[in-house]
Amino acid sequence: MRMPTNRRLAERGCAELQFEALAHKYEEFDGSLLKKFVTTEMVVTMAGNLVGKSVIDVGCGNGHFCRIYAAMGARDVLGIDSSATQIGKALSKSSAGIRYIQGNATCMAEVGGGFDVATAVFFFMYLDRAGLDEAARQIHMRLSSQGKLIAVITNPEILLPNGRKYGREIISLRGSANLDDGEKFLSAFYDSTGIHRLDLKAINYSKDTYERSLLRAGFSSIEWIGPKISVEGIKSCAEGFWDSYMRNPYSIGLIARKE
Ligand SMILES: C[S@@+](CC[C@H](N)C(=O)[O-])C[C@H]1O[C@@H](n2cnc3c(N)ncnc32)[C@H](O)[C@@H]1O
Repeated sequence: MRMPTNRRLAERGCAELQFEALAHKYEEFDGSLLKKFVTTEMVVTMAGNLVGKSVIDVGCGNGHFCRIYAAMGARDVLGIDSSATQIGKALSKSSAGIRYIQGNATCMAEVGGGFDVATAVFFFMYLDRAGLDEAARQIHMRLSSQGKLIAVITNPEILLPNGRKYGREIISLRGSANLDDGEKFLSAFYDSTGIHRLDLKAINYSKDTYERSLLRAGFSSIEWIGPKISVEGIKSCAEGFWDSYMRNPYSIGLIARKE
């Protein structure tokens, strides 16, 4: 039997399965401009002081952010991901204070509760609508009463085409200038020399859909967080480099609080 190519897998819409095929390529982007200077800055700022806290990272991939939480002083970090390849990668890296489980975030029966913080970084867009509701419910159930969920998602209000300058291009399959609620799209990844490396197929949800899903799951408040560039990111790039990014960001953050 001929194995499906990465692009065919992505195009077939196997939202979870695509990471089995693409995990190696996805990992190449751990050091990319956006991950290093924008996503990490947003995650670290939203997470706040993690010293002594317990953290669950849902859709943890190769454990990139789990290792950051452990380095920030979290006492217990649990990463969960449905991809065996991603969990294998996570386990192969240093993991002091970190546990990993291969499992589906829509059914986390084997995961304990009482976490102070849950994180979901570029995760929710890989779930269908029912999966989004269920994952929100499962995460809510596993947080302590004062716990919070922090998430980074692709910007549902991005204007297209957003260009390749920052290494990620969102492609509307309808060729439109906006993404509708529930619309499938491709996220194209380019390396630092501008070479196209991979496409991920994902689903755009409006802010309203995220809010309804999270409120229905039991969260009491949702705060949207705009893009943030680290000081290092500003210093190491030419003046004005990030201006167009700040006007039309690829991603935004949210904090959902239980209480
Ligand atoms: C874009 S990657 C993000 C990985 C990591 N959070 C990061 O930012 O480096 C999305 C991850 O979600 C995982 N995933 C997709 N659907 C899932 C599900 N239903 N349950 C658990 N993990 C899932 C994929 O296997 C993949 O590793």
